[in-house]
Amino acid sequence: MNLLAGKIAVVTGAGSGIGKSIALHYVSEGATVVVADVNAGAAQSVVEELRSLAPASMAIQVDVTSKESCQALYHTVVERFGRVDIAGNNAGVSSMNRIVDLTEEEWDFNMSVNAKGVFLCTQAVLPYMMQQGEGCIINTASMAGMRGTPLLAHYAASKWAVIGFTKSAALEVAEHGIRVNCVCPGYVKTSMQEREVVWEAKLRGLQPEEVFAEYIRQTPLKRIQTADDVAHIYVFLASHLAEFVTGEAIDVTGGANLV
Ligand SMILES: NC(=O)c1ccc[n+]([C@@H]2O[C@H](COP(=O)([O-])OP(=O)(O)OC[C@H]3O[C@@H](n4cnc5c(N)ncnc54)[C@H](O)[C@@H]3O)[C@@H](O)[C@H]2O)c1
Repeated sequence: MNLLAGKIAVVTGAGSGIGKSIALHYVSEGATVVVADVNAGAAQSVVEELRSLAPASMAIQVDVTSKESCQALYHTVVERFGRVDIAGNNAGVSSMNRIVDLTEEEWDFNMSVNAKGVFLCTQAVLPYMMQQGEGCIINTASMAGMRGTPLLAHYAASKWAVIGFTKSAALEVAEHGIRVNCVCPGYVKTSMQEREVVWEAKLRGLQPEEVFAEYIRQTPLKRIQTADDVAHIYVFLASHLAEFVTGEAIDVTGGANLV
């Protein structure tokens, strides 16, 4: 398939995990991808992988918590490619703690990357998409943005914010031909999950392997989720197949969100 032929896409947090998989799938569907990440080295190595399929793809270092950095990202993209069709606001962080022990720093860190980062990247790309009269914005929320999640209250709050922002933005910019949706993954095998399994095990007095096994037990489709599972929904939402879909929070959890 060539669902994204000729499209210019920016994916934040594309230096690893889910974002990297989105970048690879976008390129194999014909898009040129800007791999945007705070980790410049990781972003560059993803671009090396993309080069054979999409020679124009490039890496840009961005810190999504900085307004200047987000504005500079889209300024550079539009200067280089003349337009931007797809903005994937995927960069995110997590930490785990009980609310009684949670520090203000942890709260601020999660809120500023996950929630404020989506706001700043959306604000930076909108003027270009409004001028074009079309565009597609996709945010990575989480299963934790659809239900309560112990040990992750601060992270869950940041992801509920992403869903609220997505739905509000969709209504605000629909008249400009811009669609805004978000994707809500479950237990995805990435470096974020590797860190979380260790934290959760420590907080609950378990072994990391037991926590990992519990993730699969809590997933009705009975396997751990992959980054590709999420990237497939990102492809669908960015494509013409989703041209009448906006303001949605799509659950891609193998049913874990229902348990
Ligand atoms: N892994 C899961 O189980 C899971 C589940 C639900 C939602 N998510 C969400 O998916 C997204 C991707 O997570 P992942 O699992 O691939 O994690 P990851 O840690 O593998 O990747 C996150 C990427 O974001 C980048 N990043 C962090 N802070 C940044 C900043 N300030 N500016 C720009 N880039 C920054 C990191 O360098 C990294 O490359 C996140 O929004 C996360 O909250 C993950």
